[in-house]
Amino acid sequence: MNTDFVVLAAGEGKRMLGTAPKVLLPVAGKPMAQHALDTISEIEKSRTILVLGNQAKEVKRVLNTSRSTKFVTQRKQLGTAHAVKMALPKLRPGSIMVVLCGDVPLVESKSLKKLIKSAERGSLAILTFIKERPQGYGRIVRGSRNQVQAIIEEKDATKQQKEIQEVNSGILAIKSSLAKKLIQEIKNKNASREYYLTDIVELAKNSGVKVQPLLLDDSDEALGANSPLELQELERACQRLSAKRLVNSGVNIADVNRLDIRGPFSASKGSFIDVNNVFEGKVEIGKNTKIGPNCYIKNSIIGDRVIIEANTVIEDSIVGDLCKLGPFARIRGGTEIEGRAELGNFVEANRSKIGKSSKAKHLTYLGDSNLGTKVNVGAGTITCNYDGKNKHKTKLEEGAFIGSNSSLVAPVKVGKEAYTGAGSVITKNVPPGNLAIGRSKQSNIKRKK
Ligand code: UD1
Ligand code: CA
Repeated sequence: MNTDFVVLAAGEGKRMLGTAPKVLLPVAGKPMAQHALDTISEIEKSRTILVLGNQAKEVKRVLNTSRSTKFVTQRKQLGTAHAVKMALPKLRPGSIMVVLCGDVPLVESKSLKKLIKSAERGSLAILTFIKERPQGYGRIVRGSRNQVQAIIEEKDATKQQKEIQEVNSGILAIKSSLAKKLIQEIKNKNASREYYLTDIVELAKNSGVKVQPLLLDDSDEALGANSPLELQELERACQRLSAKRLVNSGVNIADVNRLDIRGPFSASKGSFIDVNNVFEGKVEIGKNTKIGPNCYIKNSIIGDRVIIEANTVIEDSIVGDLCKLGPFARIRGGTEIEGRAELGNFVEANRSKIGKSSKAKHLTYLGDSNLGTKVNVGAGTITCNYDGKNKHKTKLEEGAFIGSNSSLVAPVKVGKEAYTGAGSVITKNVPPGNLAIGRSKQSNIKRKK
């Protein structure tokens, strides 16, 4: 059966206290409503009807919608039922209608599929969850034999009803034909003078449509956000859900509550991620790679069996298999590190290529450098790549050995298996196999007593 998703995104989000449309606020680095749209795309024969209102142009511009998406406008925000009503003419005959709220972004496709199945059997399927502090949510009122009687909004709830911890996610599914009939009947006789979509429950019951609740095991999936603090709760829930998905795919995570992923992320089996790591943009982590605590990795590809020690920052770079980085290394600017290379503490590599098995283990700056294989860079080495106007390149050929505290004044080349003496300032190319010493001779002067 076709499924038509009605995504409600017309509200103003006043309670968020900001100026941006609420449905565009980021969760895990992505606009809230985009999460819902991306989940819909996982469902076969689905189509989206997006209900816009407040800052409609901006919402439409920012959201990435599929070509089949239909847009409808709700000029005045008279309530969730009124918003759905705007979408009714776009429903395909014989389809199932699923309502999603733009501010309830984390619902997973497997839960939606369950709701759709139940709606196909003729029920009004509603997604519910348990919230210890249920303030702000519609309460699920169950009657005898545990059947759902009604959903009562906070403002209309009695003191007793407010105690109920089973709440409405705002997500429901029903045959489009039934939706068209029932939604017309919804009135706005309530504390907010709004047309509540939740009234569909009582109307369904009265017209003999079975109300089928689906109670979620993991309440994180159904959290909504009306206030800035709830947005924080939502962000954490989102992060926890993706961490749990990784754990279930064979990735080891020190603590699912202390991981932040803000973009498309993949990690292969056997990798380990310690606490407080932030991954931004597109990040790929290979097999059996270990990432220590407090690293920041952005738009980078990390190979297999890499060890990244604590507090390492990697941006826009590629790290080959079996490399060792950090602690406190900084890799950036399109740097490419080949297999088994090591960049240790307080080493910065910028716009550089580091050849296979090359090492710079302490306190080094490699800018605009090209290192061949098995180059050894001593502690305190600096590539002096900038003359105040232009950047220049340093080339260190295969097997070159750079003595500690060398300054390599670019453009400069150190040939294959050449050496530089510790403390040298290298301003001229060093031919292969040579030892270059560019420092003043030591003189020992006898002191008068
Ligand atoms: C709604 C539900 C509540 C549920 C909660 C879950 C109703 C009446 N209440 O309450 O039972 O527990 O979600 O998060 O449905 N919107 C429009 N047009 C409108 C009004 C709202 O498009 O006229 C959109 C909003 O942009 C938002 C969504 O609908 O994305 C939900 O509206 P909101 O005002 O946040 O409803 P809640 O008070 O959270
Ligand atoms: Ca809401």
